[in-house]
Amino acid sequence: MVEKNASNVGYVARNLLLCLFLVTSILFVLSWFFVLHSTGHNRFLDYALLHKSILSTADDVNSGVSTRDNVEHYNGDRPDNVDGEMDGRERGDCRCEKKEKAPASLKVYMYDMDPEFHFGLLDWKPEGNSKRVWPDIQKYIPPYPGGLNLQHSIEYWLTLDLLASEYPDAPKAKAAVRVHNSSEADVVFVPFFSSLSYNRFSKVNPHQKTSRNKELQEKLVKLLTGREEWKRSGGRDHVVLAHHPNSMLDARNKLFPAMFILSDFGRYPPTVANLEKDVIAPYKHVIKSYENDMSDFDSRLILLYFQGAIYRKDGGFVRQELFYLLRDEKDVHFSFGSVKNDGVNKATQGMHNSKFCLNIAGDTPSSNRLFDAIASHCVPVIISDDIELPFEDVIDYSEFSVFVRASDALKENFLINLIRGISKDEWTRMWKRLKEVEKFYEFNFPSKEGDAVQMIWQAVARKVPTVKTRVHKSRRYSRTVTGPEKELSSLPIPRNFW
Ligand SMILES: *[C@@H]1O[C@H](CO)[C@@H](O)[C@H](O)[C@H]1NC(C)=O
Repeated sequence: MVEKNASNVGYVARNLLLCLFLVTSILFVLSWFFVLHSTGHNRFLDYALLHKSILSTADDVNSGVSTRDNVEHYNGDRPDNVDGEMDGRERGDCRCEKKEKAPASLKVYMYDMDPEFHFGLLDWKPEGNSKRVWPDIQKYIPPYPGGLNLQHSIEYWLTLDLLASEYPDAPKAKAAVRVHNSSEADVVFVPFFSSLSYNRFSKVNPHQKTSRNKELQEKLVKLLTGREEWKRSGGRDHVVLAHHPNSMLDARNKLFPAMFILSDFGRYPPTVANLEKDVIAPYKHVIKSYENDMSDFDSRLILLYFQGAIYRKDGGFVRQELFYLLRDEKDVHFSFGSVKNDGVNKATQGMHNSKFCLNIAGDTPSSNRLFDAIASHCVPVIISDDIELPFEDVIDYSEFSVFVRASDALKENFLINLIRGISKDEWTRMWKRLKEVEKFYEFNFPSKEGDAVQMIWQAVARKVPTVKTRVHKSRRYSRTVTGPEKELSSLPIPRNFW
């Protein structure tokens, strides 16, 4: 018995050893296989990338990227790839970035709408008889009109960014990419340049019954509500641009289930637009950026700067009252008249030379003055109780702005004492923060990491879960014909669809 047991133990031990040896060998062979496989794979990818970059660089040089005289509003940028010398190095960087962690891009489906809704408003026409809907922006970028039009030009920058996202040498900043299958998209982008349409075509000409702006909105509503994509979500996953407070005046009441991109909610009832579903985007500043700002608290001689129209309707009476309260302070600059083209230089000088810049509600809660102040590194003093600020879910404005309630600002000496009470250290902290955040309000083409274009797309992306919730909720009773949601009943959607 004892002997038998002993031989059994020996037998089991031998088998165990054999097993262990076999498993280790297999693992060893497998690991080599994986190592070889993965390095080979990477090398192939690298080669493909490099090869592609050389080819497209040559293409670009031949085609020649023309931006005409838009140096100012393109900030003089050309697509990086035009510069062959930069290419190798940049591509190296790009690979590292990708390995680190690239956040998933927002997938955007864009309607191929007739150019009359977008670049046609900029007098762009497809060459010859071609049915092209979009300009080939690698060759030619239709310029956007300058001056005050630019304030609301987000429609232009966002559309250009989507178009560029498809080119082989797309900008590296890629918060959004265009997709062509709407079922795979997070949101559906409606490329109507509504602010430009308002600015340029709201007048009714003698031979017309309605303005072109109105006509286009009617057409748009018809077009959208007839589309499968709209019907699928009741428009809730659509992104509609209406940055100018008066743009989309007719269509907004029909398209409101969509996500609007706005400057504020001043002229919207809360049912049509609200912070839950909509995105507030910055104005493009008209004051020149303060590059290489070496100023400090003492070198900025003006304490408080305001330039704007004074006698405004509605909420604008605060401006007038403040003027009377502040007019005897010798280091306060308070002047009237909006910043027209020739005034830009003077206003630029004034804001670059001021410690604080007033931003008072006018006939709407927001104005581009705030963004002028940020670009000037002039600490904004915001007196606008109903203002909504861009990206406030990720940016704490109190770090670089001073907020004053209108009712407080109108108390004798309240404002001036508050401002004079802010120490040099405190001001300097805010000034430094302004220099850090200013890039979030810059519109570039090609778009850059963390600029306004990227920030807006990211803000849209943060709304996607809300959009999905709303879409799913709206489908709860889709089997019953009666009882569509209240907000849908006013929509020109066939009632039985819901
Ligand atoms: C679009 O995407 C959906 C969902 O992924 C897929 O079922 C459909 O086949 C795609 N359509 C086309 C034309 O590729």
